[in-house]
Amino acid sequence: MRFMANFKCNHTPSTTRSYLQALNAHAFTPSFFTKHSITIFPPATSLEAAMDMSGNIRIGAQNAYPSQAGALTGTIGLQMLESIGVQILLLGHSECREIFKQSQQHIATIFDFYTQAGFEIVYCIGESASIRAQGASAVQEHLYAQFVGINTTSSNLCVAYEPIWAIGSGESASIEDIAATHAFLRSITAAPLLYGGSVNATNAGAILQTDNVDGVLIGSFALQPQGLVEIINALM
Ligand code: PGA
Repeated sequence: MRFMANFKCNHTPSTTRSYLQALNAHAFTPSFFTKHSITIFPPATSLEAAMDMSGNIRIGAQNAYPSQAGALTGTIGLQMLESIGVQILLLGHSECREIFKQSQQHIATIFDFYTQAGFEIVYCIGESASIRAQGASAVQEHLYAQFVGINTTSSNLCVAYEPIWAIGSGESASIEDIAATHAFLRSITAAPLLYGGSVNATNAGAILQTDNVDGVLIGSFALQPQGLVEIINALM
């Protein structure tokens, strides 16, 4: 199973260090990391601190521009990430699509650029509440459109299905909806499929046992290491 925590716009370098120290000090069984992985996505200012402290934990960036470097105020590029050894990128999160107005075309350009640079891409997709209210075929049509320009056969791809209405709302998708949506996604790609959106220690066990769920992407509940550990323990 893949356990991934998205810090969003939270954590300083110092609290990121403490987080990783606590996580690495946790008594995972010796075989844990042969079967499972833990990835955290700190903000850009904490990436170097996170890499220093990573231990058994994988570290990814939350967003990046498809360029080595250059006159690109307000972003980070490949050179910065490579200089500290980051090789995983979270891409297409609904907050990037909605707040920062990233278009599907731009997201696809980032995908191409960073997969060519050898990055693993955790690619987020998900529908709004109004699309969900229109039923399963409207959801499928929307999710399908979020694969435009994305190489679904890439071995660097990992998909995170995150219904927008479930993110930070305290209301995760139902197991039936997760199962149906992930079965649809499985028909599109053989990539690992994560679920995200209000995952917590109470619902994680059932979500992780759902067919075609290969892991979870967690926001609020994993902002402290104990929350992430509780979710991992839900599987054990
Ligand atoms: P949440 O966020 O767990 O707080 O719902 C998930 C995410 O946005 O990745």
